[in-house]
This record gives sequence, structure tokens and C-alpha cells, in this order.
Amino acid sequence: MSPSAARPTIWRNARLATLRPELGGLGETEGGAVAAVDGRIVHAGSQAELPTGLGDAQVVDCDGRWITPGLIDCHTHLVYAGNRANEFEMRLAGASYEEVARAGGGIVSSVRGVRAASEDQLVKETLPRLDALLAEGVTTVEVKSGYGLDRESEMKSLRAARRLGSERPVTIRTTFLGAHALPAEADGDKDAYIAKVANDMLPAIARDNLADAVDGFCEGIAFSPEQIARVFDAAKALGLPVKLHADQLSDLDGAALAARYGALSADHLEHTSALGAEAMAQSGTVATILPGAFYFIRETKKPPIDLFRRFGVPMALATDSNPGTSPLTSLLLTMNMGATLFSMTVDECIAGVTRHAAQALGLGNEVGTLEAGKWADLAIWDVERPAELVYRIGFNPLHARIWRGQ
Ligand code: NIG
Ligand code: FE
Repeated sequence: MSPSAARPTIWRNARLATLRPELGGLGETEGGAVAAVDGRIVHAGSQAELPTGLGDAQVVDCDGRWITPGLIDCHTHLVYAGNRANEFEMRLAGASYEEVARAGGGIVSSVRGVRAASEDQLVKETLPRLDALLAEGVTTVEVKSGYGLDRESEMKSLRAARRLGSERPVTIRTTFLGAHALPAEADGDKDAYIAKVANDMLPAIARDNLADAVDGFCEGIAFSPEQIARVFDAAKALGLPVKLHADQLSDLDGAALAARYGALSADHLEHTSALGAEAMAQSGTVATILPGAFYFIRETKKPPIDLFRRFGVPMALATDSNPGTSPLTSLLLTMNMGATLFSMTVDECIAGVTRHAAQALGLGNEVGTLEAGKWADLAIWDVERPAELVYRIGFNPLHARIWRGQ
């Protein structure tokens, strides 16, 4: 059903965490109401100031529940086939993530699975993971390719990702991550593979409008800053925004590279320096913090949250949902990890899965806060205080999820 066919709706008797920055904190409003027409918010604020002329609106009494913007998972590798529980066992027996990767496991083992799977099968295997996210009030999900690593398999993954958005009421943003790992058939020639990503895969993907952004993995076990720059140049020429897996396992100045290209976000960032953080602040690049991967591969170096605060870099939080380093499909748990592992505040965690996550996807004008003009993407919670969303572990207080007014 198209959202525009719906009656206007008013959610009344609610407490709002609007996340509007000008209101400070979480932008809380007591005695609040949200009204939506044609899937867009026309009012989010005091109930007393509801606009008139919504006479035929459907009215929902929220019984004093809290409403936040629908949650946004701005970094996932949700589309893949099979799983890598075997590598988990190897790591439990003492192998490091890099050792597993060098032994032919890691990303390339998921590549075998994706290449063998049909597009239908990828959709089918991904839907339960997507449903787990949606069950916690997620209304926008970013999905990367990067387990195909040849033109057809990358395009198949991105088509599967796009299809998720017609299978479920959710906004899907797709990201082309051809520069994720070197496929076996490249025979160690990273430069030749990068040329293929930039000159062969990317133009075909752009032509079919399969990607909303372009990402890369800048790391010793993946690609150098120079190689990533070639992909970014090609993306720029096609008018596509970029993002980067940066400084996860070592400091290759990935954050500064991302900033130089005006990236929407740089992600992971455990090893980012002060110079990198400062460059991100200047370019308006969001720092996407991924505590699930940090936890799962037992990283010890934490991302420099204090530097991001000091330079005013907006921080997003995301699951990084993937089979190798973060088999995580809970943004609520991700918030708890951001707070517990990295000492992020409750307000930072909640902004990280709403306003700042929207910004990390270039959707800052569409979603991420409760304000007139944006999509009516809402999560309604059975909590007394928003801090409970961050505090609990393995408990889901979602009362209702609204996507585009429904
Ligand atoms: O975001 N860092 C690179 N990519 C993924 C890991 C992917 C994998 O191991 O399958 C990540 O952590
Ligand atoms: Fe990732």
C-alpha cells in the first residue's frame, strides 16, 4: 500500500524525544503529539499546538509512551549466504581475525557463498536478519555489497539489497563495497582489481542505479589509501558519495582520506589520530562507531571518542552486521555496547542511531529527527525514560514501529 493513500494520523498523549539539536539533549517534549499526512510529519511537538484541519485523522492514544525517530542502522553487510561460525570457533581456539583472513577464511569465504547463491536465495537468507532489526524499531537500513567481488555478483547483491525494500516496510540505502577484499582470482594483483572496481563494476552499478554510495576497506589486509583514492575518484566522477572502513586495525590515515573526499562517514576508527578526527570535523564527515565488531574480534584499542567530542565530529552507532566480525542484528544492544565499551552517553547513543545515522547516509533532511517535513518514521516505546533503551541487555521494549506514517 502506498503511504500517500492513508488517512492522516495523530499520535497523541506521548512523550517525544525529537532529537532536534536546537532543543538540546534528546529534544524532549512532554505532553507531545506527532501528526502525519501522506507519510510525512506535519507536526511533532506540544499536543496543544496540533494544527487544525486534520478532522478525519485517525487518532492513536500513546498512553504517555515515549516516541523516538525510527532507528537507523547506517552500516551493515546484511546480504550474504551461510555464516562463519566455523571461523568463530577458530578464533576461540586462538587465531586472530587477520590470521583467519590470511588462511583463506574471512571475507573471501563469504564471497564463495554469495557467488553460489541466487538473488532470490540472498533475499531469503537476509530477510530474517532484516526482520530482527525491524523488530527493534528500525525504519532505515544501509546495506553494503562486498561479498561478490566480481561485477555480476556485486550487482546481484545490490539488487537483492534493493529488493529488501519492497519485501518490507523499510527504507533501504545501498552501498557498493567492491573494494572490500581481493578475490582469489585476482592473484594478488590489488592494483588490477582496483582498476576493475573503478572502471568496470562501478560504472555498471551506477548505470543501473544500484548504489546510493561507494565504500572501501582501507587496511593492511585490504587496500591502501592510494588504491581507495582511485575508487573514490571514480565514484566522484559518477556523482556518488563515499564512505570508508577506516583505521579499524591500524592507522593508515583513513579518516583523513575520507575527509579529503568529503565522505558522508568514516567507520570503525579505532586507530584514528587527532589529525584524522580534526579533518573529519572540517569536512562534516560522521564518525560511525561499530562496537559490535570491536567486541566480537576482541579489539583492545577503543575509538577516540574524546577526540570526536573535542572536535565536534558527529558520532553514529551501527551494527556492522556481517558474518565475520559482527554477527549482530540488534541496534539496542549496539547502543548498550557503545555506552559500556566506549563510555558514550545515553544521549550520544540515541543520537547515534537516529540523527547522526541519518547524516551518515546523506538523509539528514529526510529522517532521523521528529520534525515537520520529514518522513513519519517513528518508534514508540514502553519505557519510563529513554535511557532504558541503552541500559537493558537483550530486552526489547518496542510498542510500535511506524514507517512513513503506517
Ligand atoms: O566491517 N572490515 C571489513 N569488513 C567487515 C568484516 C567483513 C567480514 O569479515 O566478513 C567489517 O568489519
Ligand atoms: Fe563493515
